[in-house]
Amino acid sequence: MPKLTQDSCPTLTANLTVLYDGACPLCRREIAVYQDLQPVDAGQTLTFSDISRADSALPLGGVRSDYLARFHVQLGDGQVLSGAAAFVALWATLPGWRYLAFAARLPGATPLLEVVYRAFLRIRPQMQGIAKAFEAPRVSKALAGDLRSDQAGETGAVWIYRGLLAVSGNAGVREFAQRHLKTEQVHLDNINAVLPWPQRSRLLPGWRVAGFATGALPALFGPRAVYATIAAVETFVDQHYQHQIDKLQNQPEHAELLKLLRECQQDECEHRDEALALQAQPPGRLLRAWCKLVGSGSSAAVALARRI
Ligand SMILES: [Fe+2]
Ligand SMILES: [Fe+2]
Repeated sequence: MPKLTQDSCPTLTANLTVLYDGACPLCRREIAVYQDLQPVDAGQTLTFSDISRADSALPLGGVRSDYLARFHVQLGDGQVLSGAAAFVALWATLPGWRYLAFAARLPGATPLLEVVYRAFLRIRPQMQGIAKAFEAPRVSKALAGDLRSDQAGETGAVWIYRGLLAVSGNAGVREFAQRHLKTEQVHLDNINAVLPWPQRSRLLPGWRVAGFATGALPALFGPRAVYATIAAVETFVDQHYQHQIDKLQNQPEHAELLKLLRECQQDECEHRDEALALQAQPPGRLLRAWCKLVGSGSSAAVALARRI
């Protein structure tokens, strides 16, 4: 195993091999910046090695997962530097960046940089997820609008059941809500999986609040109001999904999405039918007015989510 150093700051070296994780979108972007630069001294060579590739060579005795976990450079004499020391060694070879390397070599600066780097490594998986989401191919504008409305609806659905559970003490309502909440969370996860992150609804906090209120308010009035509300919501959602299914059913390129929407619609219809079956008696005038308001609110939310 070559000597691994995290704290030392080497002087300029004639040959430097940069070992980077090409599967990481953050690393790729940073390395692309360095690759566009020529080393300051003509006698230096800078080699970039994507060690995420199984066929790429590693320093003798090295374990790939260890090298992927941190940034490394290998000097011409075989010494391997890791983390902040590796960055400083690389920066020292590059025009512009060498001044940063000079600053990093001031007393205490490289250890401080190492602390910052370790803190970054802790949030690296989350940042990689965000970067990958931004790199994911976008869906068409029209499809994104429809999927955004689905995302808003499923977010609202999840929070309706959370609202019910926050308020209702009725055992039947709570069992109903817990079961349906699981299904709605699966719907939301599946819709999120096909809607690239940058195209998602920017009004999610609003859909959560609206959903929570739509569940919590009827829960204050008992099971009859709860089941009438769920039946009204799911009646709307069934029609909403049917509208999208009609648009997509002659587009073979969207066969997978069509399957997903049909599965969601099937679940929503079961939710609606279950809620209708649990209604002990038909809703009165006030409850009918509330259900109408829920339907109009859902319609307005869909229109808004298609745009934002
Ligand atoms: Fe759903
Ligand atoms: Fe549902």
